Amino acid sequence: MSDAALDVVEFLLTTSVYSDDRSLDENDLQPSVRQVFWTSGTGDADEQGGARQGGITRPLSATNQTIREATGVEAPWNAVGDLMFTDRDEFSGTVSLTQRDMAEDWFADRASDERVLENPTLAKHFEDHEDLDVDHEEARERNRPIQADRVWIDGLLEEYFDEEEDDDMLDLVEIRAPEEVDITLDDLVLTESQEDEIDKIAKAIEHRDYLANIGLREIGKLLFVGPPGTGKTSTAQALARDMDLPFVEVKLSMITSQYLGETAKNVDKTFEVAKRLSPCILFIDEFDSVAKTRRSDEHAALKRAVNTLLKSIDNISLIQDDVLLIGATNHPDQLDAAAWRRFDEIVNFPKPDSRMRSDILQVITSTMDIEEFDPGVIAEATEGLTGSDLRMVLREAVLEALTENRRELTQGDLLNAVEEFEERDNLKNMDMIDGDHDALVAGGDIGGGDSSGGEDDHDHAHTHDHSHD
Ligand SMILES: Nc1ncnc2c1ncn2[C@@H]1O[C@H](COP(=O)(O)OP(=O)(O)O)[C@@H](O)[C@H]1O
Ligand SMILES: [Mg+2]
Repeated sequence: MSDAALDVVEFLLTTSVYSDDRSLDENDLQPSVRQVFWTSGTGDADEQGGARQGGITRPLSATNQTIREATGVEAPWNAVGDLMFTDRDEFSGTVSLTQRDMAEDWFADRASDERVLENPTLAKHFEDHEDLDVDHEEARERNRPIQADRVWIDGLLEEYFDEEEDDDMLDLVEIRAPEEVDITLDDLVLTESQEDEIDKIAKAIEHRDYLANIGLREIGKLLFVGPPGTGKTSTAQALARDMDLPFVEVKLSMITSQYLGETAKNVDKTFEVAKRLSPCILFIDEFDSVAKTRRSDEHAALKRAVNTLLKSIDNISLIQDDVLLIGATNHPDQLDAAAWRRFDEIVNFPKPDSRMRSDILQVITSTMDIEEFDPGVIAEATEGLTGSDLRMVLREAVLEALTENRRELTQGDLLNAVEEFEERDNLKNMDMIDGDHDALVAGGDIGGGDSSGGEDDHDHAHTHDHSHD
């Protein structure tokens, strides 16, 4: 019997059991199944007066099309048409089970415990079956929560943001489902203390009920501090992916760089969305923009937005709201005490040392074949470069080789690319340091030679620069 038949029968059983057993909810369905049956909300109020956010409506009907979408089996009826307990309605394309007990025995006979544990609906149904040793609670824990599905996130956004405000909102916030994040913690080379902090926060998330019970609430607000390109954003995203949490990203420069009449309201909504999406990660990038605004005579609407933001941060908590807040800044020196004290853990993202650079090179070249590759030597030659710089070096080497019609790289290519990078770096140095074009005018510290502690000088040049505008 083919795997396709097992897949299709599993789907038929799942839809049938779910339709009958009202105690099951969305989190008892696998993401692949949920996705097929999700109907988006209207945004209008329903009979009970609440806005409808969309959801899964019973009964779940198994048709050739829904089966194909959920299981990936191209010709579902061909796969199960021979089985005695299946039937098809030619007209509607509905496939059904004529004798469910027979289907259950057939399935329990062939499916492993492992397989059923991936399907909470069936794990519950088969908990007492003699052929299987499965546990409903365990299966639910293994199953990805609905909050992590793209369809759920979209439904929520539709409910919260009407069309006129959508454009502003999209500039301000980006929301990613964990399945849309393509970096994992394994792809990142982290320092020991970074790893410790991540372990700590993972434990805090896992045991948040206990933390709530003992009254420990001041936890779950991290600030990532370090120069651009050192992996702050990537680490936050990788956390989201590895912990199956939706990733909500707010770029603070969007709040302060342009006038948005609705900004304060949008900040409010963003936090509200984060709370509704919870458990999730709320990532606030460019946190230093806040401090900048507080110091200057910006527009009153912006001040209001920033105050709203700070208040919102105070009012959100990992323990009460299941929202892990991560702030990031390239300019720690620009944060005032009011901003610092809102975070309970500071995680330092330094420029990588030689060993880390060597490890990063290994990671980013892991799918490539490089002749005479010696990452240690490249690491020695790239003092002061960040992970992001090393990626650029590699890209340069690859493109350069392609212009010579080569797909095979050599150590020499990499060394040439390093040299090339340093030259370019000298030209657009300031730009690379903080992405702030004003800084180009400042004529700050351009020498790339002395790398350790170099960032501090840049930051001073930057701060200084603003008084010249
Ligand atoms: N320590 C690291 N290990 C692996 N890759 C890194 C590291 N630091 C940076 N990178 C890579 O450099 C790029 C930019 O990193 P990013 O997270 O955007 O930095 P930041 O947010 O600190 O500016 C990403 O592609 C990331 O994978
Ligand atoms: Mg970043």
